[in-house]
Order: sequence, then structure tokens, then C-alpha cells
Amino acid sequence: MKRLAGKTALITGAARGIGLAFAQAYVREGARVAIADINLERAQQAAREIGAGAVAIEMDVSRQDSIESGVAQTLAALGQIDILINNAALFSAAPIVEITRQDYQRLFDINVAGTLFTLQAVAKHMIERGQGGKIINMASQAGRRGEALVATYCATKAAVISLTQSAGLNLIQHGINVNAIAPGVVDGEHWDGVDAFFAKYEGKAPGQKKQEVGQAVPYGRMGRAEDLTGMAVFLASNEADYIVAQTYNVDGGNWMS
Ligand SMILES: NC(=O)c1ccc[n+]([C@@H]2O[C@H](COP(=O)([O-])OP(=O)(O)OC[C@H]3O[C@@H](n4cnc5c(N)ncnc54)[C@H](O)[C@@H]3O)[C@@H](O)[C@H]2O)c1
Repeated sequence: MKRLAGKTALITGAARGIGLAFAQAYVREGARVAIADINLERAQQAAREIGAGAVAIEMDVSRQDSIESGVAQTLAALGQIDILINNAALFSAAPIVEITRQDYQRLFDINVAGTLFTLQAVAKHMIERGQGGKIINMASQAGRRGEALVATYCATKAAVISLTQSAGLNLIQHGINVNAIAPGVVDGEHWDGVDAFFAKYEGKAPGQKKQEVGQAVPYGRMGRAEDLTGMAVFLASNEADYIVAQTYNVDGGNWMS
């Protein structure tokens, strides 16, 4: 029996990386998915590659009108939303004295407001429909503690953990489970960008930071997007009905809490 048979999911930032791996895993488990991304072309390519069960939706989670239209388009395409993964996010790094308001605002608009107001729009639908639902937010080990060069991103991910707690407590009365996943370091295009920031600020050779963080993981290597799909399927399934407001580390042992 497929674990998400008959379910539908809206996954933001699913055109590549971890979100794409989630979409692929959900379709394998019998769900239909909306691949929502600011990059429509790439979302369409991802949906084509997955084939039956996937649709591409253009959505910029930093804009309220785009969230509302993305949710409406998803409902038109899939009929209902049983599962939401708030996965879209942006990374940035800078020493404290170089952080700009513009960069701070952009990160909070996408990573925090994007998470909260997409969650809100989908929760309204789930409450109206009266059949509960599952909402998964993407946090990070960066939300568990600060990092010298990563103040803004770390703060956004700490906010995601906190929002998961409050939304989880508020929405469980409607049968909506809100939980989060905190990955460690996951290889992919996202990390190419992260590596470039550290090359700039720590004077490292390209690829060096990535190699160092991979070697430091207790498991012995960087994560792969596929390492996270088990938790994402589990949290979206009925097996997770009694789990409320939690953030789970899936990070090869990097963080313990
Ligand atoms: N890769 C890691 O090491 C790592 C570690 C911890 C947490 N995470 C978190 O996991 C999630 C996925 O990470 P990833 O590595 O796959 O990232 P990624 O950068 O590869 O993918 C992010 C996707 O989000 C999309 N996106 C960006 N801004 C958007 C917006 N405003 N609206 C809609 N879509 C937007 C991008 O187009 C892209 O497809 C993120 O929340 C990230 O913070 C990643």
C-alpha cells in the first residue's frame, strides 16, 4: 500500500534540490503534487520529468498575491490540498558589519513571511474543508544556533522553528499537524552558493568549505536530498497524526536536541 495514496501536496521551491526530491518521493508514494516555484520554467521541467501526478505552479512566496494565486491554481489543478511543504528559501552570508537592510528584508520576506503566509493560506483551505492536513516547514541546523557569518539566515530558520511551534499548537484543534525538518548540510545547487559565500569571506578555495563541512558530519558525508525524503513522507502520513509542533533533525548527527 502506498503511504500517500489519494493525497495531494503543495511543495514550494520544488523546482530543484530538496523540494524536487520531496515531490518525486511523494509521487512514488501515490500522491499528486504541485511543484510551486518562483522559477516557472524549471518547475515545468521538473513536472514534465516526474510525469503523471505532477503539475507546475508559478509562485513567489514573498508576495501575498502570488501565494493566493498559487494556492488557487493548486486547488484548481488538484482539487484539494492535504499536505503543504514550506520548502522555498534563500541563503545569504556576511559579517555582521556588512549585513544590509535590503538583504535582511529579502531573507525574512521569503524564509519567514513566505512560510507563515503560505501556511496561513493553506490552513484556511484545510479548516474550511474540515479534513485536517499535514504542514511541514523546512528549518535548518542553522536555526538551532548562530553562525558568525550567517546571522540573517540563522535568524530566519530559528523563526521557522518558533512558527512551527505556535502554528502547530494553534492548528491541531483542526486536525492539522504542523511540524518541521531541520537538515544539516545537503549537497546540491544551494550548497554551491553557500560555498561561494565562504570562499569570499573566509578566503577558501572553491569547494573547500563544502569538503570541510562534509568531513565534519558524524555520518561521514554531506547529506543528499534523498536522505530527507523518509522524514517528509512519514510526517505527511497518517502515522504522524500524534506528532505536533516538532522540529526533527535529519543531519547525519550534526546536531542533538
Ligand atoms: N541544502 C542545504 O544544505 C540545506 C540545509 C538546511 C536547510 N535547508 C533548507 O531546505 C530547503 C530546500 O533547500 P535546497 O538546498 O533544496 O535549496 P535550493 O536553493 O536548491 O532550492 C530552493 C528553491 O526555492 C525556489 N525559490 C527561491 N525563492 C523563492 C520564492 N520567493 N518563491 C518560491 N520559490 C522560491 C528556488 O527557485 C529553488 O528552486 C530550504 O528551506 C533550505 O533553507 C537546506
